[in-house]
Amino acid sequence: MPSVGTARAMAVLVTLATAFVAATAVAEPAAGSKLYQHCAACHLPTGAGVPGTYPPLAADFRSQAVTPAGRRYLTLVVLKGVMGPLNVDGKQYFSVMPAQSQLDDEGIATVLNHVATDIAKVGEGFVPFTPAEVAAVRAADSGLSAQQVAQLHATLLGK
Ligand code: HEC
Repeated sequence: MPSVGTARAMAVLVTLATAFVAATAVAEPAAGSKLYQHCAACHLPTGAGVPGTYPPLAADFRSQAVTPAGRRYLTLVVLKGVMGPLNVDGKQYFSVMPAQSQLDDEGIATVLNHVATDIAKVGEGFVPFTPAEVAAVRAADSGLSAQQVAQLHATLLGK
C-alpha cells in the first residue's frame, strides 16, 4: 500500500500531466493558424492561391507530405524559398517565394503541419513534421538555392 503522502503526490502528478496534455492539444492548432497568416498573404487563407501567381498548396502537400523526399522538398521551400519555373497542378509559375527565415525549426514544423492537416487534409499516412526533422534538412541542405529547390520539385514530380 503506498502511503497517503505518496498517493497525494501521485494525484498531483496526474493532474499536472493532464493539464499539460490539454494545453499542448489546444496550443498546437492555434499556433499553426497564427503562423499560417503569414503564408496566407500570398497563398490566401484557404491555401487556394492565385492561379499563375501564387500556387495552391493542397495538391503537392497531398502527394509530397507522405514521402521522405517530398517532405524534404516542402521543408526546403519554407527554409530556402523557391524560384521557378515550377509546375503546380497543371499551371506554370515563374515567380519567387522568399525564404521564410523568420521561422525557427519549431515554427516551420508547426506551419507545415497546419497546411498538411487543415488545408490539404492529407489524412491517412500523414506523420506530423517535427522540429528535429526540419533541423536535419537545415543542416544537410544549407547550400541549396531557391532555384535548386524548384529543380528538386521538377525531379520529384516529373514536370
Ligand atoms: C510573398 C509571398 C509568399 C509568402 C509569404 C509565402 N509564399 Fe509560398 N510561394 C509563393 C510563390 C510566388 C511561390 C511559387 C514560386 C515560383 O514560382 O517558383 C510559392 C510556392 C510555395 C510552395 C511550393 C508549391 C508546390 O506546390 O510545390 C509551397 C509548399 C509554399 N509556397 C508554402 C508556403 C508556406 C507554408 C508559407 C508560409 C510559411 C509561404 N509559402 C509563404 C509566395 C509566397
